[in-house]
Amino acid sequence: MNKLLALAGVCTCVFLAVWSSSCNNSSEEKEKARADSIALVVERGRYLANHVAACIHCHSERDFSKFSGPVKPGTEGGGGLRFSSEEASIIPGEMYSSNITPDSATGIGSWTDAEILRAITQGINKKGDTLFPLMPYASFNKMAKEDLLSIIAYLRTLKPISKKVPARRLPFPVSVAYPGPALQASVDQNLRPAETDTIRYGQYLVTMANCVPCHTPFDKGKPDMTRMFAGGNVFTHPGFQVASSNITPDSTGIGKWDEGRFLNKFMIYRDSAQVNVSAGRQNTVMPLSDYAGMKDSDLKAIYYYLRSVKPVNNAVDKYPAEKTKQWNMGAFKVVK
Ligand code: HEC
Ligand code: HEC
Repeated sequence: MNKLLALAGVCTCVFLAVWSSSCNNSSEEKEKARADSIALVVERGRYLANHVAACIHCHSERDFSKFSGPVKPGTEGGGGLRFSSEEASIIPGEMYSSNITPDSATGIGSWTDAEILRAITQGINKKGDTLFPLMPYASFNKMAKEDLLSIIAYLRTLKPISKKVPARRLPFPVSVAYPGPALQASVDQNLRPAETDTIRYGQYLVTMANCVPCHTPFDKGKPDMTRMFAGGNVFTHPGFQVASSNITPDSTGIGKWDEGRFLNKFMIYRDSAQVNVSAGRQNTVMPLSDYAGMKDSDLKAIYYYLRSVKPVNNAVDKYPAEKTKQWNMGAFKVVK
């Protein structure tokens, strides 16, 4: 009897040991699976924020002594980049990109995901202020929610930077009201096209990457969509002046470019030696050092989308000698 009891005890112990270790295993596995999927989400966010949506490119300090003004290491997300009518006359007054690192006092560390999402897609910040539409919330309003949430997850992993960005100065009447872009109230219904749906996926990336406002001539303060991608917007920087190219499939645009030439325009800047040159007057405002990190398949999708748009005849002088053309100021009046 004693022997039997002892045996039962051993069995129970063995059973308990096996059961509890299998329990541990499955909770460890669950924990690992959770960590893996969080890592995947953050990685997607890192990719989009740095190489497609260019959040980090606008929200950091940049070194314009080098080609395309790469981000100064250590300033990622800290904001403070100045945009003013001196660089592009479409911008009334001056403003600074915000600190979007998780610093609680000067960044967005104390914002909820919903508050960050509203700022990115509706242009309304935590304080309730409407952001100037240079912050491309009208484009981000068309992004799939899963991509937006992955960007937010990534922003939370940035090193917090304590930096108070100066307040914007907008001239009256822009300071009280400006024509807000048409926006939908919720991004819940936005779909991300399948990557195999090349042209539509390319369009999705182009929207996120904001190619339109830089490459489309402005009329009355808005891009003239009847001449989408015809180029010719002039950007003035202290050391250089550059006009955006015609990237329509016209012969004055990139009509004669094959896929290889298009990909090369971006891919050569994967080699940092091509960026770390003193660019002088032949510089650009197009964030090429960041776009260079786009996947080959994403660049191809963009190429095929651009092939599908309406060709517009417009020969552009890339480096105009004088301030020949400036962005059409349209509705905005700059008070100096
Ligand atoms: C073309 C430059 C540009 C790009 C690209 C850009 N931003 Fe901004 N962003 C700005 C500017 C400028 C402001 C401040 C606007 C103002 O003061 O009215 C701003 C404001 C913000 C704010 C509001 C912060 C606050 O304290 O009010 C958030 C959040 C933000 N951006 C996040 C993002 C994210 C995320 C992305 C990428 C998905 C992004 N931005 C891409 C220029 C940009
Ligand atoms: C901040 C403004 C800006 C943004 C955003 C921008 N570009 Fe550009 N782009 C320019 C300027 C300025 C030039 C001319 C100087 C140069 O070649 O970089 C240019 C040149 C180009 C060229 C070279 C054409 C030629 O004839 O040499 C291509 C292709 C191009 N852009 C495609 C794109 C695509 C695709 C996007 C979006 C993923 C984009 N650009 C986003 C400003 C911009």
